[in-house]
Amino acid sequence: MATREKERLYAELADQLAALLAGEDDLVANTANMAALIYHGLPALNWAGFYFARGEELVLGPFQGKPACVRIAWGAGVCGTAAATGAAIVVPDVDAFPGHIACDAASRSELVIPLVAGGRVVGVFDLDSPIPARFDDDDRAGCERLVALLLGHHRDWR
Ligand code: SME
Repeated sequence: MATREKERLYAELADQLAALLAGEDDLVANTANMAALIYHGLPALNWAGFYFARGEELVLGPFQGKPACVRIAWGAGVCGTAAATGAAIVVPDVDAFPGHIACDAASRSELVIPLVAGGRVVGVFDLDSPIPARFDDDDRAGCERLVALLLGHHRDWR
């Protein structure tokens, strides 16, 4: 998909997400709808969803796709690494990522965006694809924009 086409798609998703969030402050409802919006709105995904920080672990939150690992240690796998570093990770080939955690054997590439609120990583948003190198820097920027909308809407993560 061309950069301009991707920008348009992410702009549409941002509008739709803003509409879904408007007037609702329940975190479970909003993250569930966000996972569904993105899972169905972006092509070639087999998983999209959240893990939330709980002590020294990430714990599975709302998602779309096959049932997934419930707990991921801080620093483990792609999700735990994104949580520990506070930076997004684009993984073109999951088999080449040391410590990648295979929840769905179909996953070939992955994008993880940390959720940073009040200077703290409160969770991650994780996208998996069955296509190698499915995610590029445009996807990272687009998904960071969507995550920023969620974080702007939910400011209290205590
Ligand atoms: N692959 C992730 C685990 C989560 S599942 O993909 C849903 C990881 O290595 O952290």
